[in-house]
Amino acid sequence: IRSVVLGCGSYLPQRVVTNAELASRIETSDEWIVQRTGIRERHVAADGEFTSHLAINAARAALAAADVDPQSIDLIVLGTSTPDNTFPATAVAVQNGLGITHGAAFDVQAVCSGFVFALATADNFLRSRAFKRALVIGAETFSRILDWNDRTTCVLFGDGAGALVLEAQEQPGTVADRGVLTTHLRSDGRHKAKLYVDGGPSSTQTVGHLRMEGREVFKHAVGMITDVIVDAFEATGLSAETIDWFVPHQANKRIIDASAHKLHIAPDKVVLTVDRHGNTSAASIPLALDVAVKDGRIRKGDVVLLEAMGGGFTWGSALLRW
Ligand code: ACO
Repeated sequence: IRSVVLGCGSYLPQRVVTNAELASRIETSDEWIVQRTGIRERHVAADGEFTSHLAINAARAALAAADVDPQSIDLIVLGTSTPDNTFPATAVAVQNGLGITHGAAFDVQAVCSGFVFALATADNFLRSRAFKRALVIGAETFSRILDWNDRTTCVLFGDGAGALVLEAQEQPGTVADRGVLTTHLRSDGRHKAKLYVDGGPSSTQTVGHLRMEGREVFKHAVGMITDVIVDAFEATGLSAETIDWFVPHQANKRIIDASAHKLHIAPDKVVLTVDRHGNTSAASIPLALDVAVKDGRIRKGDVVLLEAMGGGFTWGSALLRW
């Protein structure tokens, strides 16, 4: 049994904020941001546009691409750190928005690794035959938790959502078969102070703002990412040469380039969207997947490597045959 991808979709809020616009509000420049991060612009949600709204739009696009009826979905796993409310889970708002009242829907909170954690969770539920068809979503409105006066963080992030439809299919489950081949998840709470939000229901009763020691995050990122990708290669016998596409979490072009270089992944296999999306946390991987599927790069049967690293720290990888 395998969790096979039936389709993907994504959604970005209409409003685009360029580096030039940020430079008109805070002491920064297009040159600094592009050179350090590769980011040129990001999308920002409108007033009244919530994470669940972005997620519902992405889910509808994925369901249409997969050509499946929303009523056939019995599991929704949504990765987010910016839920509409403290509770209920944003996944339940998505379920309701799609008119689904059966099955289960819940959120997974692993910050930028949220999509990989959500995918691994859904994959395990499908392969255990607990559910048959899943929506796996990453959706964020990080613009709501940024300190817009802190130039060291506010230039890095954007809003958006992406979704995959996965189905449990009986099949031999060899590396040649389609579906999720392997997932590997890690976390280590000793790194909390390097990347966290300084608020929350139990601690301050405020939403809080994102705080980050960027250099410290950078220092750990490449090693953690490459370790967990080596685990994925060892589990499947695949390698940098035999994968077709590398779709990393889009935090920073320098982290992506350094990771690909260390793993000997050819630059033309790397899908990059950070220039137009910024870091959309749990949404960045499904947004990038959707771009590469729509423009014809990722095709049925291709081997796709995903990886993410973020607050916690959390990190993880997934290998799938599209
Ligand atoms: N515009 C202009 N100058 C800036 C800006 C800005 N937006 N932000 C910081 N600076 C200044 C700093 O004040 C500092 O000035 P100083 O030397 O006078 O003190 C100078 O630029 C250098 O600052 P550093 O923080 O050392 O710059 P660095 O080269 O490390 O780049 C960055 C910062 C881009 C945040 C980098 O550390 C990084 O990419 N870290 C990874 C963090 C990340 O991607 N996090 C995302 C979440 S985690 C994840 O998804 C993996």
